[in-house]
Amino acid sequence: MLRLENLTMVVENNQGENREIIRDINAEFEAGKVYGITGPNGGGKTSLAKLIMGIYMPSQGRIYLQDQDITPLSISERARLGIIYAFQQPPRFKGLTVKDLLNIARPGIDNLHLRSTLRDVGLCPEDYMDRDVGPGLSGGEMKRIEMAQTLAREAVISIMDEPEAGVDLWTIQKLIAVIVGKYKKNPRLTTIIITHNENMLHICDEVLVLESGMLVHRGTPEKIWPHIRDEIECKMKEQCSGEVAYEIR
Ligand SMILES: Nc1ncnc2c1ncn2[C@@H]1O[C@H](COP(=O)(O)OP(=O)(O)OP(=O)(O)O)[C@@H](O)[C@H]1O
Ligand SMILES: [Mg+2]
Repeated sequence: MLRLENLTMVVENNQGENREIIRDINAEFEAGKVYGITGPNGGGKTSLAKLIMGIYMPSQGRIYLQDQDITPLSISERARLGIIYAFQQPPRFKGLTVKDLLNIARPGIDNLHLRSTLRDVGLCPEDYMDRDVGPGLSGGEMKRIEMAQTLAREAVISIMDEPEAGVDLWTIQKLIAVIVGKYKKNPRLTTIIITHNENMLHICDEVLVLESGMLVHRGTPEKIWPHIRDEIECKMKEQCSGEVAYEIR
């Protein structure tokens, strides 16, 4: 189980003023469950993921993995304990091939597994296995390769940051099916999906809503969705006051 205790992160803006981008977050993520994290842009989702991965360090609070305090650990130490983070904007690695990356994610991966993983993210293995992970790949292709690494790794804690971003609708549906088949109800694995996609949220066991760095709602998708709808509707009305007000159906 992953546990976040009073997690807070403060950054300094250009004027030298402090700003809390993560505010006193308490949450638990159990094995065998898929969690969704959603909320408005700039709400703190990616920052929270980076805190869990050790890319950012908290100003206050602790992070526990199976009751071990991992707060002081580096990214590579956390990776060794079984945490993986699939970036919202995946980095490119000129000079490495897709096959190399999957071998790093899962050392000794056999050819069959490698091919099936690429197919899981909608990439034809023959066309992509030997492609260089440099500037020649499109944004959507990069996202799919990032997801392929995550799937190949089958980590104890997988955090996927907007796996649907820039990816075509057909691949989103395929990814949803793969996440359900591979992660849901797997008693060893905890999966956290940061997403703005309604279909992705609906396959989650629980959804957490982050807004202004705070955890504002948590519950089943069925319980949370009406809140999200109300907030979207409210924001649209605010933005359109005096103009046309749109209704969400
Ligand atoms: N290293 C940093 N230094 C300063 N500000 C930061 C840093 N990282 C994030 N922020 C700010 O913290 C806020 C939360 O950013 P974050 O990327 O976590 O949002 P998000 O919820 O992932 O948004 P989105 O849905 O757009 O991906 C933003 O206002 C962002 O500008
Ligand atoms: Mg983000």
